[in-house]
Amino acid sequence: VPNGRCVVAVDGPSGSGKSTVSRRLAGAIDARYLDTGAMYRAVTWAVLRFGIDPQDADRIGKVVGEIDLEIGVDPQAPSVRADGVAVDQEIRGPEVTAAVSAVAAVPAVRHLMVARQREIIAAAGRIVVEGRDIGAVVAPDADLKVYLTASADARARRRSAEYAADVTATAADLARRDTFDSSRAASPLRQADDAVVLDTTELGIDEVVARLLELLRDTDGGT
Ligand code: DC
Repeated sequence: VPNGRCVVAVDGPSGSGKSTVSRRLAGAIDARYLDTGAMYRAVTWAVLRFGIDPQDADRIGKVVGEIDLEIGVDPQAPSVRADGVAVDQEIRGPEVTAAVSAVAAVPAVRHLMVARQREIIAAAGRIVVEGRDIGAVVAPDADLKVYLTASADARARRRSAEYAADVTATAADLARRDTFDSSRAASPLRQADDAVVLDTTELGIDEVVARLLELLRDTDGGT
């Protein structure tokens, strides 16, 4: 595994295992961890708190610059504060989850979040970053780009367990968000041309992490 600066981009749809795998990998290589989905969720929380309609792209674009986000990048205890409020629980709730796709599609929001993410990556140096557009847009020069997938079924099962929600409703919600996230005009969910694609349907977390460690050992600068 490379010493010093090392950026790993982990992209993929919800329920592909990104968060668990990314945190474990970060712990294993002594790196920081950035959950970019949590940033879009925190912005969404602030938008809803302002009483702004999540479909109102103009108003969202005008206020997004005023939202103060503080992102903690410890893989053992990632944290998000929006305007001074710890929102780690709230951003996983149904209101934010229902509105986040619309907010994340606003160009001004993406522009600002991508800039923030690049700053966080540069400051950390050694970091695992998870999201939808990390390998393609945020960190095109990442040392390793991974795209995790899993069957729709497996993803719905994992998500509903994680969020203590009903599997059928979760499957419908995932399908809706996937379609929206993949078809939006501003920076749609897509896999970088040079990403390693891993289907995690039949793989355990340990197996996925082991595979990524192997891939990292093979990257330039690997020692
Ligand atoms: O991974 P997640 O479910 O926490 O992501 C929440 C939403 O944010 C999801 O609908 C897609 C969006 N997102 C994005 O557009 N770009 C990212 N880099 C990360 C998440």
